[in-house]
Amino acid sequence: MANEATKVTDQQSFFITLIGHCKEYGFIFPSSEIYDGLSAVYDYGQLGAQLKKNIKDEWWKSMTQLHENIVGIDAAIFMHPTVWKASGHVDNFSDPMIDNKDSKKRYRVDHLIEGYADELKQKDEAAADALLALMDELLKNDDYPALKKLIEDHKISCSISKTCNWTDIRQFNLMFSTAFGAVASEKEEDNIVYLRPETAQGIFVNFLNVQKTGRMKIPFGIAQIGKAFRNEIVARQFIFRMREFEQMEMQFFIRPGSQMEWYNYWKETRKKWHESMGIPSEKLRYHNHSKLAHYADAALDIEFEFPFGWKELEGIHSRTDFDLSQHAKFSKKKIQYFDNDLNEEGKPYGNYTPYVVETSVGLDRLFLTILSLAYAEEKWNKEDGSEDSRIVLRIPAKIAPTKLAILPLLKKDGLPEIARELMDECKGSFMCFYEEKDAIGKRYRRMDAIGTPFCVTIDHQTKEDKTVTIRYRDDMKQERIPISEVKKRVLEKIS
Ligand code: GAP
Repeated sequence: MANEATKVTDQQSFFITLIGHCKEYGFIFPSSEIYDGLSAVYDYGQLGAQLKKNIKDEWWKSMTQLHENIVGIDAAIFMHPTVWKASGHVDNFSDPMIDNKDSKKRYRVDHLIEGYADELKQKDEAAADALLALMDELLKNDDYPALKKLIEDHKISCSISKTCNWTDIRQFNLMFSTAFGAVASEKEEDNIVYLRPETAQGIFVNFLNVQKTGRMKIPFGIAQIGKAFRNEIVARQFIFRMREFEQMEMQFFIRPGSQMEWYNYWKETRKKWHESMGIPSEKLRYHNHSKLAHYADAALDIEFEFPFGWKELEGIHSRTDFDLSQHAKFSKKKIQYFDNDLNEEGKPYGNYTPYVVETSVGLDRLFLTILSLAYAEEKWNKEDGSEDSRIVLRIPAKIAPTKLAILPLLKKDGLPEIARELMDECKGSFMCFYEEKDAIGKRYRRMDAIGTPFCVTIDHQTKEDKTVTIRYRDDMKQERIPISEVKKRVLEKIS
């Protein structure tokens, strides 16, 4: 009989299946797989890279093209090391960790307790909630002895050694560092540069450049998409928590005192945007932070119900004037904004350090969100009573990696030539896929499994009346339409 620990829940097995599907169809591969992979690092395959790009494009468009007062930049990953002293990351970007003395395995304290609370929830939901509330309170107060006692009192054990033989809790910095330049310096720290743990600092240090060259008036935003790196100790759950990942961040610069107004604005706006990406409202919720980061006066997560529970998808942070003030202090440059409009409003002219509201979503987490909602296994009875089935990815058409599959029924009789003409007509406007091998049913199934929303079949009738069969992924309905209308039809559906 399976014991509690080895029981695999439906959600877990769904997640394992999803990971397998991602690999089988070229969405995501373990990094350097031929060398057995690298922990918590993944490569996006041919379909994954395209899907990821489509998600990025949607975000970029929604931020920059649809907001006249938001512009985008692309700052370097390497930054002057003082950036990270100014931002507080050298001193504060750490998590409380605890080591098991027997297995030597290191855990993030909150993850260890949360893992135990998840198990407890099956038996006693109220006790699990109380435990998490107490943990939040102790983390907020940095009360490490009490947190250790909490772990010991609940007999929370190491998953490897199964013992409760714990070290004291200590802070562990999550930034990766590397050496810059070819010549080793006598003083080693002279050469140290960090791989950025967030993209936001690239925006802050460019605040004046963008504001002045773009003649931006407050309120305005700077958006950026790029890689970030964190030496996560507990790196698990596939692409949910990685050591190299991508963020889509936007810093919105505002007048001091207006931060709660904009915080609420972006909180609503970002949740609505996720809904516009096909995420049902009931699968999203807000979680207010009880322990605020060193730079924030208010913060919340937009959480999604992942296959392994409710977890952070995006962070909304009111970062005050912390970052700009710190960079002004450390660089000894004046980083302020001269607000002309204050005069027009009858208030005195003023230079001030803008406040900032940040929106920060993990691209990989959004990718996982979209795929976990899209994946479905379907079974039905055919007219002759036999069973049929398929795996389908119901990725919203506007972000699906391939939009249209063009499938000549046979490899002969002039059908491939007609299909190629259609391919040439459409491929400049959206991603198309051409395939002439295998039975048509098999080809449809393959397109369902990678989320292609439309398939077009060219058959002998096409030669007679210039019509084709278009098949819709979601309801598998088929209709006959003129070949000349295919491109227009697909463009309508994906826009
Ligand atoms: N600039 C603010 C900032 O970085 P954060 O809450 O630490 O805030 C923002 O990160 C988002 O980045 C998270 O909501 C999450 O989606 C994503 N993220 C953070 N760490 C990650 C990791 N190790 N792997 C994948 N995504 C991560």
